[in-house]
Amino acid sequence: MSSSLERRTQLAAKSLLTAQLGLADDDTAVIGVELDALDTQLASLRAAFPESVRHAVAVKTMPHPEMLAHLIARGFGLEAASLEEVQLALGAGAAPSDLIFDSPVKTRTEIAWCQANLPGALLNANSIAELARYPSEPSFQVGLRINPELTTGAPSEFDVSGERSKFGVPISTSRSEIIEACIDADVTALHMHIGSQVPTCDAHVEAVGRLLELAKEIDAERGERQDGRRILTLDIGGGVRAETDSDALMSRYGHRLQAEHPSLFEYDVRTEFGQWVHANNGWAATRIESVEERAVPMAFVHLGADYFMRDVYGATGSMNYGFAVVKGDGRVAMASDDNEPTRTYDLVGPLCFAGDVLAQDLELPVLSEGDWLVIAGTGANTLGLWSRHCSRAVPTVVASNGGACRFWSARQSPI
Ligand SMILES: Cc1ncc(COP(=O)(O)O)c(C=O)c1O
Repeated sequence: MSSSLERRTQLAAKSLLTAQLGLADDDTAVIGVELDALDTQLASLRAAFPESVRHAVAVKTMPHPEMLAHLIARGFGLEAASLEEVQLALGAGAAPSDLIFDSPVKTRTEIAWCQANLPGALLNANSIAELARYPSEPSFQVGLRINPELTTGAPSEFDVSGERSKFGVPISTSRSEIIEACIDADVTALHMHIGSQVPTCDAHVEAVGRLLELAKEIDAERGERQDGRRILTLDIGGGVRAETDSDALMSRYGHRLQAEHPSLFEYDVRTEFGQWVHANNGWAATRIESVEERAVPMAFVHLGADYFMRDVYGATGSMNYGFAVVKGDGRVAMASDDNEPTRTYDLVGPLCFAGDVLAQDLELPVLSEGDWLVIAGTGANTLGLWSRHCSRAVPTVVASNGGACRFWSARQSPI
């Protein structure tokens, strides 16, 4: 375990100990957020870019209403992928002008709703055909998503820059067709999001270059036609993977953009990061329901494919998290401690299908019924992907701040 992950895991175990004071018997699992760490992360996002850049955070990555309210209170906007997310964001106190709406399947009814209710928001059309659905005098800013068509290095299920991507207008579409569409529909923003968990900055920097070039071509044509409108906004999306042991990937990205594409910052630049913001600031904990001596020692826990959707169904498949065990007397045990006796376990979830296995041969401190397993680094794309399989309750959510713990929501049954 890296040193920063070990530190975050210990912190999560401490937070669980505080949260335990308010848990009920049926709270067999808890989801936690470290707000101090989140605020530090938000500050380093701001520091990586010039001050003028406006950062929205992707709602889908961690859509808890209290999280959205926290982000808004810190001056961040929100990126919504559905009208439901737009409404969640408004309910959490977002102003329409802080919202970016990016769904690829906006209905005509939804667009009409936005016209009436979202003045000043940015709506990014997913295609030229979608632009034709927009009102002739939109109350919102009109953007067009472009697929810059490059190799991103993102895992295939999160890579949206290939030729079969469903997202955006392929940049290889004839320039005249893109330019005419932008001029006809009063497009004043171009948008890209090249994929998620992109391992380096290279593809992002290259894609921004392609977007900039297109913006300049559209505006040159407008100039020729004495059309005073311009591309004002470049929305560069999200996609930077979570930091590993402080490798400062976001900072490098921001610096490279300033060095290699300084003209980008002549525009109103928007971002939409999700995973990078949330992953390292969240944790989950589950009671060990039982330990069975099967073909291999098997630990039964209360979070499975319902919370670790991506890990269990194979999209990330790594369970690359930090693990600690909180014993009944409050002692925190970690397998990295040389004096701690350990065993290897298959960690199996609560859902009724064979594939609900979180990890095989995972080395953990020796487990007993009633211990709590703390899993750190689970803040992104977990609660937001909660699966209703077996209709299990969504766990209690808590937020820790300066050692204090606040209950954000109680355990919620889906029925
Ligand atoms: C349009 C858009 N913007 C932003 C994001 C957030 O991406 P990430 O969590 O990789 O930063 C996504 C994620 O799917 C997205 O589809």
